[in-house]
Amino acid sequence: MGGILSILVQYFPPRAKWSVDEIGDLSGNVYLVTGASSGIGKACATTLAAKGGKVYVACRSEATATDVVQQLKAASGSNDVHYLLLDLSSLKSVEQAAAHFLRQETELHVLFNNGGVMAPPEVLTPQGLDTTFATNVLGAFHLTNLLLPALLAGAKSSPDGTARVVNTSSSTAELATLDYQSLIGKKQRSAHALYAQSKLGITIFARELARRYGDQGIVSTSVHPGSINTELFRTQPAILQWYLRLIHHPPEKGALTLLYCGVAPETKLSNGKYFIPWARPGKSWQPQPCVEDPAVGKKLWEWLEDRVNDIKTTTS
Ligand SMILES: NC(=O)c1ccc[n+]([C@@H]2O[C@H](COP(=O)([O-])OP(=O)(O)OC[C@H]3O[C@@H](n4cnc5c(N)ncnc54)[C@H](OP(=O)(O)O)[C@@H]3O)[C@@H](O)[C@H]2O)c1
Repeated sequence: MGGILSILVQYFPPRAKWSVDEIGDLSGNVYLVTGASSGIGKACATTLAAKGGKVYVACRSEATATDVVQQLKAASGSNDVHYLLLDLSSLKSVEQAAAHFLRQETELHVLFNNGGVMAPPEVLTPQGLDTTFATNVLGAFHLTNLLLPALLAGAKSSPDGTARVVNTSSSTAELATLDYQSLIGKKQRSAHALYAQSKLGITIFARELARRYGDQGIVSTSVHPGSINTELFRTQPAILQWYLRLIHHPPEKGALTLLYCGVAPETKLSNGKYFIPWARPGKSWQPQPCVEDPAVGKKLWEWLEDRVNDIKTTTS
């Protein structure tokens, strides 16, 4: 019965007690949303722009990016929407995107590490890493670290003394295990297990970021956005996609918990915490107890740093 109840709560969470109507004027703040070309990220970016924020949408291709910027301007009524070209699965692209952003802006107030893939067609990156983990975790790790100077400056200038990093996790992290052997070289786990471990990975990263930079005004959270009707399931069998579209919620609902962590005054003290739909703290604050273990966070952080250093060594 407990299992059935937990599945029902996952698909049909209780009514939200917070809504985007509570978001005040965001003008003067700079936001960067990855995975903004569709789904949850696009809905999140649209609201930020509609509320007056300066919004950077990160997209993989110039054609998509210009299209998304036009759509967001039309939907939000704001002209302060810009794009960054970013392929999260490529550390080189992450570096170019971060450099471009830092040439435009000295401050970043909220970074939404939201871009992600499930069961991508290319199983490995050109460097031989699992594409899912490289995109969903390593890219976000590198981008966040490169943007830290702007985030720390944003924290200093913001009235509540914080800059926020909102990391999109998933309820799949609740049952996942992290197997380092499966992250490099030939795929040794199912696509679903690789996705779930990447979502556990981003949650461990979010918690470790909180440990390392919480005393400097960074508020790092992770979010299960809910079961949302997006393009995430595009490589799944058609019948499953059809069924999921019937039961999943619209992207605007998926963006709600991200926005709550990113801009609500009451979440400024939530550094290191995990949130669930709709806009509520997770019951146990983390999807799994291991996320609270500093040794687990340190190990993943160092593994990610090693991958960044591998690229530096091979390209120098
Ligand atoms: N939908 C759900 O039920 C659900 C549940 C739990 C968690 N999530 C998480 O929510 C986040 C957003 O997903 P979504 O559901 O909104 O799905 P989506 O519509 O497929 O959006 C994913 C976004 O990530 C981008 N992306 C994928 N690979 C990328 C790469 N290598 N570099 C840069 N951007 C890349 C996609 O860009 P392209 O358009 O270029 O592919 C797209 O904008 C993901 O992290 C996902 O894991 C979703």
